[in-house]
Amino acid sequence: MDLGPSAIQKFWGFNFIRVGLGIRLVVAEDYEELSRMASQYLADFIRRPRVVLGLATGATPIGTYRELVRMYREGLDFGGVVTFNLDEFALPPDHPASCRRFMEEHLFRWVNIKRENIHFLDGMAEDPRGECERYEEEIRREGGIDLQLLGIGRDGHIALNGPGTPFDSRTRPVSLPDRMRSELARSLGSPDEVPHWGLTVGIATIMEAKEILLLASGEEKAEAVAKALEGPVTPELPASVLQLHPRCTFIVDRACASGFR
Ligand code: F6R
Repeated sequence: MDLGPSAIQKFWGFNFIRVGLGIRLVVAEDYEELSRMASQYLADFIRRPRVVLGLATGATPIGTYRELVRMYREGLDFGGVVTFNLDEFALPPDHPASCRRFMEEHLFRWVNIKRENIHFLDGMAEDPRGECERYEEEIRREGGIDLQLLGIGRDGHIALNGPGTPFDSRTRPVSLPDRMRSELARSLGSPDEVPHWGLTVGIATIMEAKEILLLASGEEKAEAVAKALEGPVTPELPASVLQLHPRCTFIVDRACASGFR
């Protein structure tokens, strides 16, 4: 990929490179800058009178959430924000390793988001399929996701959609292979903390978001990001589907951009 000056344009004050028709790539200097850029990007949505955000857990967005909390203390109002998280493990919501608990600790408890506007899949639902249908219905009822925040796995997974997931998949229960469990454990400590089951929004559900922002940091994600942006669009690399989205931005740091240098 040509990262030369001719490919770089100014976008909201950031340098960005147009990769495909709908996809833009922003290269931040380091993780700190990536987090600042991503939080500013999100804040532009949060300032709207009403916005529906799709949110991710994991190590990557921690800095972004930290910046958002700082911006809240400086006056950013979360009063019009509705959220839907991407996924949840088969754990009670207050379990230390649950996605709900992660979001509480890194964002929700520190800002003025209305409790009734926070939506999660119930990983312990007695009827997991019914729970997934309820979630899809609730997203529709709220008018769809305006901005979906995503991380990416080293194998290209998005949410809990691993390699081989069909692009028309909807929200559903999934088993978590050991490889994905050890990656998901990055922000949790030991892989033993991550259960073998979870509920996740599907790839088709993600693709219905009006806009997508994917964050990736570090050399270990370089290959997955390069393949997602430049490789064939294939279920073997789930994030490659984003090449088909009309409005998708990747913010990566320089270490992560090494995959296409
Ligand atoms: C989390 C999620 C996962 C992570 C991915 C990357 O809600 O959907 O797909 O985004 O596993 O995780 P980190 O950021 O820990 O590298």
